[in-house]
Parts: sequence; structure tokens; C-alpha cells
Amino acid sequence: MDPFGRAITYLRISVTDRCDFRCAYCMSEDMQFLPKRDLLSLEELDRLCGVFVERGVRKLRITGGEPLVRRDIMQLFRRLSRHLGSGALDELTLTTNGSQLARFAPELADLGIRRVNVSLDTLDPQKFKAITRRGDLSVVLAGIEAARNAGIKVKINAVALKGVNEHEIPDMIRWAHGLDMDMTLIEVMPLGEIEGDRTDQFLPLSVAREQLADHFTLVPLAHRTGGPARYVKVEETGGRLGFITPLTHNFCEGCNRVRLTCTGQLYLCLGQEDSADLRAPLRASQDDGPVRQAVIDAIARKPKGHDFVIERARPAAVPRHMSVTGG
Ligand code: GTP
Ligand code: 5AD
Ligand code: SF4
Repeated sequence: MDPFGRAITYLRISVTDRCDFRCAYCMSEDMQFLPKRDLLSLEELDRLCGVFVERGVRKLRITGGEPLVRRDIMQLFRRLSRHLGSGALDELTLTTNGSQLARFAPELADLGIRRVNVSLDTLDPQKFKAITRRGDLSVVLAGIEAARNAGIKVKINAVALKGVNEHEIPDMIRWAHGLDMDMTLIEVMPLGEIEGDRTDQFLPLSVAREQLADHFTLVPLAHRTGGPARYVKVEETGGRLGFITPLTHNFCEGCNRVRLTCTGQLYLCLGQEDSADLRAPLRASQDDGPVRQAVIDAIARKPKGHDFVIERARPAAVPRHMSVTGG
């Protein structure tokens, strides 16, 4: 429980800050990644997750960078899946750019992964190349298909970008819902320096929602996943559409999550720099006591929320890139 009475039941683990894409709103072209020698091993990440699960975390999400580019990443999923078997966890899941999903989907399904969130901002191959700078749309679409064929429910996450995918959003919704996939729109957040200015890319979802009302009837839903999205049902498609609105409609009062990086730093809020080092207590002892205490101390200083405003897009409100904490 944090100082504001919020139960912290959701841990997001960024297993690498590296990615095979360089999405223009996320990273700069010449990103400096963390030195590999600073990474925790998969065994160490598993041990840390175990402490959180023992303390009451019910949902684990593996993120990156791109989590599926970390070497031997399936070893971590294999280990963590024991908490599903024991009933200690409600959900083990991941957020991915989809580039490696075709390869890993069958085993992820076997391990009990029921849902996966795939980041996809456009269905136009040229635009996809322009946004991701390295990605290939057909590979991601094949990854999504593989996940669906393996019986994994896919949710599409799209960052709403003014003048980039803005006018494509209705078609993306029809496509996603046509394949029985939920879709969530995300406001671009001022994290980490990039070449451009995020103020130019920022599309308030209040505006996107008004534009969508010309195409669809949106009916608010009570549906929650434990994540920050607020959902509506799209009458015409029958599907669900989520809105993640850190800038236009703060949702921090319902925050239930903290974030672990691949070097063992625990970030208490996506929009704040304060973090606690869990690597030192982890390595100091084979006993979990010191880590457990470090986690308890850290949660006790979780801040009330972020203070993003798009006017502080450059320099970025938070210097750390999204890929360090995986969103
Ligand atoms: P579901 O379990 O499907 O609800 O997923 P989720 O929304 O928890 O996870 P996902 O990785 O799909 O998150 C989507 C994006 O929402 C993240 O990449 C972030 O950009 C944003 N997000 C998630 N949590 C927070 C938060 O606490 N604060 C802010 N500002 N943004 C968040
Ligand atoms: N603002 C909002 N979303 C971002 N993502 C990456 N960088 C940003 C940003 N600056 C998104 C990705 C992915 C998720 C992990 O975070 O597109 O959906
Ligand atoms: Fe990689 Fe995701 Fe960042 Fe794109 S948004 S560069 S896929 S970490």
C-alpha cells in the first residue's frame, strides 16, 4: 500500500532498454543504451519478481525497449509462469512491438500468456517505416496473426500523432475490431530527448474523441484491465476502444503500478525521476530480506502522480526515455 492508500498490485519489468525499432516519438536515432555489463541476469530479475509477488503483486508485464530482443528471454517467462500455476498471479503478460512475435507466440501461449499488447501506430507500410525507422509492417502483422492463432488475445496500442496517423484512426479501429482485438489510443508523453518536438506531434485525445464521434457511436464502459485506459464500446463495430490520457485527463489517483528496469532500479512513477536501487540489496545477500525491505521503503515514497504538460515537451519533462521503463 502506498502513502495515498493505493494498493500496488501491478509490476512492469523492462528487461532491456534496447529495441530493434527507433520510433521517432520514443527514441532518437543515435540512442545511447545502457552498458550490457549493468544488466541484471534473468535469474536476478526472476528473484526480484518473486519478492513482489510474495508481497502481493498480482500482475506482471514484461516490457522493454523490445522485450523479445533480450537473449534467452523465454527463460524468464518459463520461470515466472510458475506463479500462474500456483495462483499467486492473475496475469503474466507483455507489451511488444510485434517484430519477434511470430517466433515466440506458441511458447508464450503454452506458458499461460493470455493477452499481449502490440504497439502499432499505422497500417500504412510507408508511414510505418517513417515512424519506426527500422520496422517492417508485414513482419508485425505476421506476429499479430501468430499470436491470435496461438489463442492469445491481442490488444493494439497506438500513440495518436497529430497529422501522422490522426486521420487513419477510424480505419485502424475497424481493422482491429474486425479481428476481435481491443484497441487503445495513447497520448504522446514528454519523456526523453528526440530529434523533433513532441508539441508538434501531440494530439489531445479529447480532440481525437470528438473526431471519432463523426464516425462512430462511443458508449462509455466500466471495463478495466488494471491498466490506465478508460474504455468505450464502439457501437458500429461492437469492439472496445481505450483512451490513455496522461496529459488531458490525469488518472494517477487510480495508479496501482511501479516499474523495474533491467538494471534493478525501481521507478515509482512513469513521470518522475525518483527511483530506488534494488540491485545492491539483491546482490548483498542470498536472503530476500534486504530486497523486501528496500521495496517496502520505496513504495512508501511513491509520489502522488506525474506533472506532465505538453508545454514542457522540449527539453523533455523527464530526461529518461520511455524505453528505460517500458511505458
Ligand atoms: P492493459 O493491461 O492492457 O490495460 O495494459 P496497460 O495499459 O497497463 O499496459 P500497456 O503496456 O499497454 O500500456 C500502454 C501505455 O500506457 C504505456 O506504454 C504507457 O505509455 C501508458 N501508461 C501505462 N501506465 C501508465 C502510467 O502509470 N502513467 C502514464 N502516464 N502512462 C502510463
Ligand atoms: N509517449 C507516449 N507513448 C510512448 N511510447 C513510447 N514512447 C512514448 C511516448 N513518448 C509507447 C509505445 C508503446 C508503449 C510501450 O509506449 O508506442 O505503445
Ligand atoms: Fe521500440 Fe517501443 Fe520505443 Fe518503438 S516505442 S522504439 S517499438 S521501445
